[in-house]
Amino acid sequence: MTYTNDLDCRAKLCRDVILSAGALALEGFQNAKAAGFSMKGPQDYLTETDAASEAHIRQKIAAAFPDDSFFGEEGGGNIRERVWVVDPIDGTANFARGIPHFCISIGYVEDNVAKLGAIYNPALDELYFCRAGEGATRNGQPISAARTDRFDRATVELGWSTRIPNARYLDAMTRLLEKGANVRRAGSGAMALAYVADGRSDGYVELHMNSWDCVPGLLLVAEAGGRVCPFFEIGSLQNGGAVLASAPAIAEGISDAVGIALAAPRDKRAREHAA
Ligand code: IPD
Ligand code: CA
Repeated sequence: MTYTNDLDCRAKLCRDVILSAGALALEGFQNAKAAGFSMKGPQDYLTETDAASEAHIRQKIAAAFPDDSFFGEEGGGNIRERVWVVDPIDGTANFARGIPHFCISIGYVEDNVAKLGAIYNPALDELYFCRAGEGATRNGQPISAARTDRFDRATVELGWSTRIPNARYLDAMTRLLEKGANVRRAGSGAMALAYVADGRSDGYVELHMNSWDCVPGLLLVAEAGGRVCPFFEIGSLQNGGAVLASAPAIAEGISDAVGIALAAPRDKRAREHAA
């Protein structure tokens, strides 16, 4: 399907709004009072800034593209052919406790194909951005997934939530440790995916993530030459799904260890598409 509304305009909006939401989030972070958070559930933090950031992003997108749909972590929304998928603060547990490892994550999807991905850490002023088929950047500079080809040199981040039984995460962690990987857990799944895209980590695994946490980051990793799971086949925008993103040389090994499938490498997909 071809849309008359241009992706260039959405890309500009995406960059502008993630930076302005980032400024708002940073101000909330710096001015936060001790214990200025509530709990949505076990280990599920909420701050006033989550809602303020989402309202800001929602309003800017609705003003520019009133026919696009919006699906956000705090307010939900609708998923139609053209949808913005938004996590207004990812890493809220870090944010709430004064740890500057959090980000805003925004994706734009057409007919279940991710077209734009942006992740911004305002505390470090690092903006990750990509358009499908055009590579990935951090603050405008091209980035690439790591070339790590041995598990005894690899660091894989494993995220977990109360949505999946602990035993399954422990099993995945055991298998990664047995391969020789260092296993890290830093509390922001979206940030973790950006770090796979720029080679700071060698992989990210989580047995279930919501789409706002992972769709922008999975596109970034694919655009940076990493391997990713086929999220739209094994999961969905509405219900989320399992997530795997990796440096290419160790991707099959991680996939075997944790039982999450990989999409065909991008070059192969492009060749099949052209044939
Ligand atoms: C969570 C974080 C966490 C991941 C969870 C997410 P939140 O999002 O990304 O690292 O393991 O799956 O729900 O609550 O910080 O927005
Ligand atoms: Ca999140």
